[in-house]
Amino acid sequence: MLVIFDWFFGMFSSDLAIDLGTANTVIYVKGKGIVLSEPSVVAVKKGTNIVLKVGRDAKEMLGRTPGSIVAIRPLKDGVIADFDITEAMLKHFIVKVHNRKTLVRPRIVVGVPSGITQVEKRAIRDAAEQAGAREVYLMEEPMAAAIGAGLPIQDPVGNMIIDIGGGTTEVAVISLAGIVYAKSIRIAGDEMDEAIVQYLKRKYNLLVGERTAESVKIQIGSAFPFDEPRKIEIKGRDLIEGIPKAVTINDSDIREALHDPIYAILDAVRTALERTPPELAADIADKGIVMAGGGAMLHGLDLLISHETHLKVRVAEDPLSCVVLGTGRALDELDLLKRVCLET
Ligand SMILES: Nc1ncnc2c1ncn2[C@@H]1O[C@H](COP(=O)(O)OP(=O)(O)OP(=O)(O)O)[C@@H](O)[C@H]1O
Ligand SMILES: [Mg+2]
Repeated sequence: MLVIFDWFFGMFSSDLAIDLGTANTVIYVKGKGIVLSEPSVVAVKKGTNIVLKVGRDAKEMLGRTPGSIVAIRPLKDGVIADFDITEAMLKHFIVKVHNRKTLVRPRIVVGVPSGITQVEKRAIRDAAEQAGAREVYLMEEPMAAAIGAGLPIQDPVGNMIIDIGGGTTEVAVISLAGIVYAKSIRIAGDEMDEAIVQYLKRKYNLLVGERTAESVKIQIGSAFPFDEPRKIEIKGRDLIEGIPKAVTINDSDIREALHDPIYAILDAVRTALERTPPELAADIADKGIVMAGGGAMLHGLDLLISHETHLKVRVAEDPLSCVVLGTGRALDELDLLKRVCLET
């Protein structure tokens, strides 16, 4: 009977896989693929939980809101910082993608940072249930990223994945569908943006917002020099005069600004390599390291890591989608889901 029920529900619900990221939320619908990818930002009426805008529209508002509106990023360092707003955001996105003709509530797989606490797991599970899930499965992000990047995680070989998101960088070694070693540090894209803000303040007395800093990072940020030097004009507010001003900055300035976060990531990779059992280390020496997450797209970061570790490093084909593609694969293959999901 249960089996028939399962089959019945499976037929009519559109199950979802979600990468609830600090920077971006990405949703995959079973049988359809990726259907939504939007910034994890919500604009609310100040002092209330009244949601005005969600996603891309809300991100446009970051740092530009009038007194009566606040734009919030409800996740921080990969976990829920503001529960009610996360739930509202998740609900909004699920309603947007869920096939409303079905009465059945979806099964949802959510990617979560490795090493997340019991309380944090509970919060994510509750948010997904409140947003309409029938069953919630949690899957560690490095595992999901590795599957999404196409690594043979079920084989008896060592696979190393580095997932650099907005809030966290996760380095993991996976073999036989299990995580052999994982390290998660709360230094990733957001920290790089913050480092750029601080640098411009210190060196040019120029105050810029986090959105400008992110755009500078994406345009001329690098971990390894470009073939041709680059420069860009950055506009902000002069800290001393208090008036708008523009400064021209080159790529080596931004490399200097990004030094600390980049080396923190490199340190995490080195530690992971030191802790990897020798047989698996030999596999990694053979096959190299794969990078995922938006931060993996920082120019030359793959080259720098390769240079410092003497290993081959490659960026996954679609780094922003690896986690959701991995959780999506698990939805499609129930055996895999049972093997790799966290016990909760
Ligand atoms: N071309 C690029 N160069 C450098 N960084 C980039 C680039 N494109 C995107 N990013 C950064 O990638 C980060 C977002 O990546 P991603 O969507 O993987 O994070 P997330 O999954 O939401 O976060 P987390 O996994 O930490 O919860 C942002 O910090 C963004 O600025
Ligand atoms: Mg992520």
